[in-house]
Amino acid sequence: MEKANDFLVIKAQENGVNVIGLTRGKDTRFHHSEKLDKGEVMFAQFTEHTSAVKVRGKAEIHTPYGVIYSEKPET
Ligand code: TRP
Repeated sequence: MEKANDFLVIKAQENGVNVIGLTRGKDTRFHHSEKLDKGEVMFAQFTEHTSAVKVRGKAEIHTPYGVIYSEKPET
């Protein structure tokens, strides 16, 4: 694997967490949205096509820099 550290592990802590991939390059737009239910885990890499990931909802996000907890957005 070229960049073994270039990945995230996202574990949903509630139903309906969205993991959104944003495009690399000139324009930055959503290209993929994955919905996770509580307890589901997604492994995601940064790739030629994906330069950023947005997580919406309560989740545990494991990164090469440590663990970050996202929160439920205010309604
Ligand atoms: N087709 C996308 C890509 O190769 C799949 C993908 C990779 C993705 N990492 C992601 C989608 C992170 C959402 C979030 O770039």
